[in-house]
Amino acid sequence: MTDLQEEIKKMEKYDADVLVVGAGGAGLRAAIEASNANTKVIVVTKSLLGKAHTVMAEGGAAAALGMKDERDNWKVHFRDTMRGGKLHGNWKMAEIHAKQAPQRILELEKWGAVFDRTTDGKINQRNFGGHKYPRLAHVGDRTGLEMIRALQDHVVHEDNVEVLMETTITHLIKKENRVIGAVGYRRDSGNLVLVRAKAIILGTGGIGKAYKITSNSWEYTGDGHSLAFNVGADIIDMEFVQFHPTGMVYPSSVKGILVTEGVRGEGGILRNSEGERFMFRYIPKMFEGEYATTEEEAKRWLADNNSGRRPPELLTRDVVAKAILSEVKAGRGSTHGGAYLDIASQRSPEYIKQKLPSMYHQFKTLAGLDITKEPMEVGPTTHYIMGGIRVHPETQSTTVSGLYAAGEVSAGLHGANRLGGNSLSDLLVFGALAGEHARNYSNTISKYEEIDNSILEPIVNELLEPFKGEKTENPYLLHRELQHIMGDFVGIIRNEKDLTDGIEQINKLIEKSKSAGAKQGRKYNPSWHQALDLKSMLITSLLLAHAALARKESRGGHTRDDFPETNKELTQILYVLQKDENDGIKIHEEKMEDLPDELHQIIQGGDN
Ligand code: FUM
Repeated sequence: MTDLQEEIKKMEKYDADVLVVGAGGAGLRAAIEASNANTKVIVVTKSLLGKAHTVMAEGGAAAALGMKDERDNWKVHFRDTMRGGKLHGNWKMAEIHAKQAPQRILELEKWGAVFDRTTDGKINQRNFGGHKYPRLAHVGDRTGLEMIRALQDHVVHEDNVEVLMETTITHLIKKENRVIGAVGYRRDSGNLVLVRAKAIILGTGGIGKAYKITSNSWEYTGDGHSLAFNVGADIIDMEFVQFHPTGMVYPSSVKGILVTEGVRGEGGILRNSEGERFMFRYIPKMFEGEYATTEEEAKRWLADNNSGRRPPELLTRDVVAKAILSEVKAGRGSTHGGAYLDIASQRSPEYIKQKLPSMYHQFKTLAGLDITKEPMEVGPTTHYIMGGIRVHPETQSTTVSGLYAAGEVSAGLHGANRLGGNSLSDLLVFGALAGEHARNYSNTISKYEEIDNSILEPIVNELLEPFKGEKTENPYLLHRELQHIMGDFVGIIRNEKDLTDGIEQINKLIEKSKSAGAKQGRKYNPSWHQALDLKSMLITSLLLAHAALARKESRGGHTRDDFPETNKELTQILYVLQKDENDGIKIHEEKMEDLPDELHQIIQGGDN
């Protein structure tokens, strides 16, 4: 028996009707839905159960419950989402999301999530950027954590759901155009794993670790994006990356850590080094008339509990992030190159500690700063990718049979820019749909497919490659190189020359990464993990750079200084990325489906 055959024999082997990759909000919600009707579900997570990056969505989950403001309804939420996404979002997904988010939040409450309350006992809802009414159900500034806690509690009580923790899936296996299984490795034991599955749901989150300054945690290495691309799924909207306007900028060791938008939602204001509240100068034409234009007007809004026009700090994230960058560029940045975010002058210390407890502790511990007394220094940080796997809006199925995707790894809902708070409701709504449809699909498949050695040998060979021969490259240093390339050439402000150079450099790095090595054993070997994660990050970065080069306009999270205007002609144009015959990338333009008249009317300003 050859070494490879020996390895294959030793693999841990599992069967699942539905395999869920990822145990963040989307994965867990999908697993709950898939497990109804006794379907056998396996959830695989790179991390420990309960430690998902979902916890970093701090400020709340957007749903038009109308509990804080009765004027809110699904139509206003739909309109805000479409306009926030610069009219590029998938309207069908935006409609489903706005309609179903309230029931998903109420269901989560029944499952044990304890949301903050209004004085009359309803779910409290807070303001957030781009949302017309206070819409974010929240738990202080720890909403994602509470959601994961409630979902995880539900999952561990399902007899037919098994969770494989500290397990990374690296390959999907396809027969004809249908997924039939997945391969990966256990971080703790170093064992290799084979899961035969009738349907697979990807809920792997984002790609933020390809950038140096990021709010994302270590798991966010674009695994799902690259798994799907590698088995031939369509990938769209990759050019749209969300740079959250408020990450920490100081001290440099914590640069990028999220400062929740909840600070601005609770009344925080932005000032430049001259003490000017500069956002009044950055209200885009599209939102003129909806945002306060003077300090007095903005103050009235805060004092009168949302009557009148919203403060400009609550503009959408793309607008606020670019405004901060412009101030810095004009020489009016804060001491460490950002802007000042001040809640101390707007709210009492008690209020701040009650509504933003994590922010209070974060700044106290990491920056030695008391946010009830002093302003914070903040600047843009890579937070979210709007692009990802193309899905059917009603079923979350991808263009590969049996493969589903939900949450950040999928694309469509958020268009060119996501509204804060829409990700937590996105993953509940579309996680549930993915779970339901993957389960239904698995019921149509009568048996597991045999996965023989001829399929597994090249995969296992690739997985163990970092241990073989003389591998001279340190995967951590290669990762650092990638982060520099992405920051310098595919960052917030882009142009054709940089993007072309960036693509060339990523391609060179792909060659170099073939010599990424790991030494010693396979148990908890971080260099090995990094060498494998790097593959996903490199593919994802290349997809992103190609899409960014193709879109010759500025829109939402994609800014080109050689095409600074938004081009109306491109509103409904998708750049679709696919794998070509030589394992390279091919890209084509596609026109999205037209919006029906009644939805068009809503966007024009119909109700409320
Ligand atoms: O700022 C925040 O609390 C992040 C929320 C989100 O990205 O949805």
